[in-house]
Amino acid sequence: MYWLGIDVGTGGTRALLIDDRGKVRHACTAPHEDMRMERPLWAEQRPENWWDAAQLAVRGVLAQAGASGADVRGIGLSGQMHGLVILDASDQVIRPALIWCDQRSQAQVDAINATVGKPTVLACTANPVLTGFTLPKLLWVRDHEPAQFARVRKVLLPKDYVRFRLTGEYASDVSDASGTALFDVVRRQWSYEMADRLGLDRGILPAVGESSVVSGKVSRAAAAATGLAEGTPVVAGAGDQAASAVGNGIVEPGLVSCTIGTSGVVFAHMASPAYDPPGRVHTFCHAVPGAWHVMGVTQGAGLSLQWFRNQIAPGAEYDALTAEASQAPAGSNGLFWLPYLMGERTPHLDAAVRGGWVGLTASHTRADLIRSLLEGVSYSQKDCLEIIEQMGAAVESVRVSGGGARSAFWRQMLADVFGRRAVMLETQEGSAYGAALLALVGTGGYATVGELCRDAIREIESVAPRPPEQELYARGHRAYQSLYPALRGFYHPA
Ligand code: XUL
Repeated sequence: MYWLGIDVGTGGTRALLIDDRGKVRHACTAPHEDMRMERPLWAEQRPENWWDAAQLAVRGVLAQAGASGADVRGIGLSGQMHGLVILDASDQVIRPALIWCDQRSQAQVDAINATVGKPTVLACTANPVLTGFTLPKLLWVRDHEPAQFARVRKVLLPKDYVRFRLTGEYASDVSDASGTALFDVVRRQWSYEMADRLGLDRGILPAVGESSVVSGKVSRAAAAATGLAEGTPVVAGAGDQAASAVGNGIVEPGLVSCTIGTSGVVFAHMASPAYDPPGRVHTFCHAVPGAWHVMGVTQGAGLSLQWFRNQIAPGAEYDALTAEASQAPAGSNGLFWLPYLMGERTPHLDAAVRGGWVGLTASHTRADLIRSLLEGVSYSQKDCLEIIEQMGAAVESVRVSGGGARSAFWRQMLADVFGRRAVMLETQEGSAYGAALLALVGTGGYATVGELCRDAIREIESVAPRPPEQELYARGHRAYQSLYPALRGFYHPA
């Protein structure tokens, strides 16, 4: 008996099987096409490609397990958040999705604030509206592609498009819906007030449910396409960050995680919807009923290293790059990296800022360049952690996960920069694992996510900060923090 998690990531879709105790048994990833970046700060992907990848990944994992569809008792979905998928009256995708890191919608953010008013936006959604969120992307289509906009009948998030192909249902969950700027995060329902004030048809919004509640069943066509059994229940699932938090056991107060994937996220569980007044971290519903979370986001975390590899060290393995970085001293000989390759969310909320190195001299080596990348991303994650601590979260240690945390060198750096123990879990599977756990709660033998996480999730390694490096990085972090204010005027000429 298995439960299946499907995570629609940025780089690929991962399918993962767990058993009835929440233990990972098999996993398989199918890559996506590269995101299209036709202009700076634009980022698009084809939803149909996600569905193709999902079919491949599901077939792959079933084959690996030697299992048939009938062995899968329940399915959970997770996915990259904030993306805009629009369907027409015949359920065809109208245009490629504008994905989470697309930053083209500043004019629409300004228009929303002017029309609705910033205090009302905050009262309706518990967050300021940001360029990355779904709503301004929809309004960008309205403003720039009116003929396409006129055809819109449904708006879906990335994983919810895969759900639609799997079940025929238009549905989402509370955690992913939180990142649309159309969702009342406090009441856990759509904010019709936002939709009404902007003249949007309420009917374009899908149904929304709690993460472990069944949202539909695998259709006959999807069963034929994937090898799953017709009628298998699919729970609502979660946005990738809330799902990853479930996979990391961040489902009770006092626990904090740092996940370095393409983006970098510091995530804390909250028993009530507390928010940071300037909105530098997001306040969203958690994938656990009656709970919320706050998270700070570095837009270009793993992306910084990926960019470096693609442009400067083609073909290099990430392990080789981090090994090279370890040849440079802590502090990278005074070199700083600003990871603002896709603008920045926490703490600057600035779509116009750009990345770069500061302090480069002729004596810097490639090792310094790489080390400074890792340090810059870690400083940015420290910015997130500090805000979350200021909001009252007690942070004794940080559970680290994602591609970045696979490197022992980077894990130690995170401990040193955070000044906190960096803890690794036995299962280093993020969002797909969380999605499978949510399916197990919704359709298996566990009553709550908390009960399952207490049973299934174990800490296996803990690295303590080293005092000399901690001290050096505390100074480095202050220097890093002085750079954005110094450069701001350059990106925002008067
Ligand atoms: C979270 C966010 C990213 C994406 C992609 O707010 O935008 O983490 O979900 O993983």
